[in-house]
Amino acid sequence: MACTSMILSKSSLIIRTQGLPAISVACYSTGPDPRPIKSLSLLKKGTGGRSSFNGVVATVFGASGYMGSYLCNKLGKQGSQIIIPYRGNFYDVRDLRLCGDLGQVLFQPYHPRNDDEIRKAIKYSNVVINLIGREFATKNFTIADANVEIPARLARLSKEMGVEKFIHISALNADPNPPTYYISGGSQFYRTKYQGEKEVLREFPEATIFRPSDMYGSGDKFLRYYGHMWRHVFRKLAVYKKGEETIKQPVYVGDVAAAIVAACKDPDAAGKIYQAVGPKRYLLSELLDWFHVVMKKGEPDYGYYRYDLRYDPVMPLKLFINGLFPGYPMGHLTPERVERVSNRKSTSEIWRSVVRVQVKS
Ligand SMILES: NC(=O)c1ccc[n+]([C@@H]2O[C@H](COP(=O)([O-])OP(=O)(O)OC[C@H]3O[C@@H](n4cnc5c(N)ncnc54)[C@H](OP(=O)(O)O)[C@@H]3O)[C@@H](O)[C@H]2O)c1
Repeated sequence: MACTSMILSKSSLIIRTQGLPAISVACYSTGPDPRPIKSLSLLKKGTGGRSSFNGVVATVFGASGYMGSYLCNKLGKQGSQIIIPYRGNFYDVRDLRLCGDLGQVLFQPYHPRNDDEIRKAIKYSNVVINLIGREFATKNFTIADANVEIPARLARLSKEMGVEKFIHISALNADPNPPTYYISGGSQFYRTKYQGEKEVLREFPEATIFRPSDMYGSGDKFLRYYGHMWRHVFRKLAVYKKGEETIKQPVYVGDVAAAIVAACKDPDAAGKIYQAVGPKRYLLSELLDWFHVVMKKGEPDYGYYRYDLRYDPVMPLKLFINGLFPGYPMGHLTPERVERVSNRKSTSEIWRSVVRVQVKS
């Protein structure tokens, strides 16, 4: 696009590509000159499948993460063009090329603090989706950088570039004053996610925000976290109050992705906050027992046993060891994760405020 210039003349359309001879195409219209194309979304074509174009040009930030592949697949299936900004190694994201039809998935290297590179990634898009988020600090970015500063920057630049829709992924139980369970001061993840929402809405008031609960699916961090060897002490599992007071309402990641795709096209979604939860609520203790039975690590044959995290002497040591390798926590075990999954509030107290997202196929 950047190296192609289109020259419209009365009788012909000349497409001139840098370094290549111009192609002349006859124009049979007797009317006035064709209108210049203002937006790619006006070029809708086809019946809505993978090989058509549905008018959505979406830049997906954070597509290299767990949810990214689910979302890009759903976008690509419906004929959206996807722009994937990435940092680091291109080979980490190249598989996402399969999500869309040939030429419909484009990659753009960027740095999350470089405004010009971000502008370049959203220049041709009418939808920007932010999946960037983190629950532990890395070498160059704090939790607040990933959950507040970067989303606010993306929202500001999207507004500036005239993007029509900005969709931001926050988290269920985002709270300015989260309760304290295991680490003093409560969950920084929930606090920064709440601040991130506020900042995004300040920069882009029509933004749509999704607050998913724990998402499950292939490659998730919910089941795998509890199944990991490092989370156990031999065959025992330490959970806050044995998990008997924590309610979980896990949601399938593909359903959240489908809801985001629906929101891309739904004008009513502008300025709304959706809490994305699964259809059923479970006690964490019952879920954990069931996971272990399915993994053939249930009580009788394996010796699995749940006990109260508050009296576990091994957990602080494990967290200390993981803290020596910031950015690569073994088994996703961080103080922040232990704190946030202990949240007893879960969905029960906010159930009345839940807005069900209508997922249109
Ligand atoms: N998974 C869940 O159960 C769950 C539950 C509630 C809310 N959420 C939220 O939903 C969103 C997507 O979740 P996910 O599970 O797909 O997350 P994820 O697997 O951890 O992926 C996070 C993405 O954010 C990017 N990222 C993180 N820090 C960054 C930084 N400083 N600069 C640039 N990019 C950065 C990562 O890029 P790199 O690959 O380059 O690091 C990655 O693409 C996140 O905001 C998460 O907080 C998830």
